[in-house]
Amino acid sequence: MRFFVDTAEIDAIRELHELGMVDGVTTNPSLIKKSGRDILEVTKEICDLVEGPVSAEVVALKAEDMIAEGRKLAEIAENIAVKVPLTWDGLKACKVLTGEGKMVNVTLCFSANQALLAAKAGATFISPFIGRLDDLNVDGLDLIADIREIYDNYGFETNILAASIRSANHMSECAKIGADVATAPPNVIKAMANHVLTDKGLDAFVKDAADAGIKIV
Ligand code: E4P
Repeated sequence: MRFFVDTAEIDAIRELHELGMVDGVTTNPSLIKKSGRDILEVTKEICDLVEGPVSAEVVALKAEDMIAEGRKLAEIAENIAVKVPLTWDGLKACKVLTGEGKMVNVTLCFSANQALLAAKAGATFISPFIGRLDDLNVDGLDLIADIREIYDNYGFETNILAASIRSANHMSECAKIGADVATAPPNVIKAMANHVLTDKGLDAFVKDAADAGIKIV
């Protein structure tokens, strides 16, 4: 499973990238707002740092305006994936932009039917939102499994990009289901390293090393 980082914070992307944990980046208007940066500037900086797909989201609602914005975003770098919402207009924009050879990430997906339409429109990525479904007491992971089954039934090549990930558990569950990609905030990716027994075991080893006077360098 590829890891995308769900942030527009350059320092956080750089830290994970140096460890080889970044296969791509996703942003959205809320993350751009949080960064306090200009969308074109910060997106260019991310694209200069990361080789993999960098999703940059349109803000228009009509297909023709989304297409114009998508073309402008795609000029930033070759690894831009234009992000469009899963609306009828978004699907139209997806069809046109993928026809021009651009990567398109169809976002705000909350049902298997929406994912089916995105695949038919040629989306490179479909972004089902797990956490926002969980917030409504609907199991978001079930949606990932449903989309996996449907795409596999028909050989759709659209990549399942599990999004709105809130916990380390979401990451391993997505990997078990077979999501192609999961995008998560930096703190969730770092939290995947944590285990209470690791901490407990390390405390004991540190104490015993000190008691035994073990020195290596
Ligand atoms: C990424 O593509 C999505 O925009 C993001 O994962 C949404 O996450 P949220 O539901 O935590 O805002």
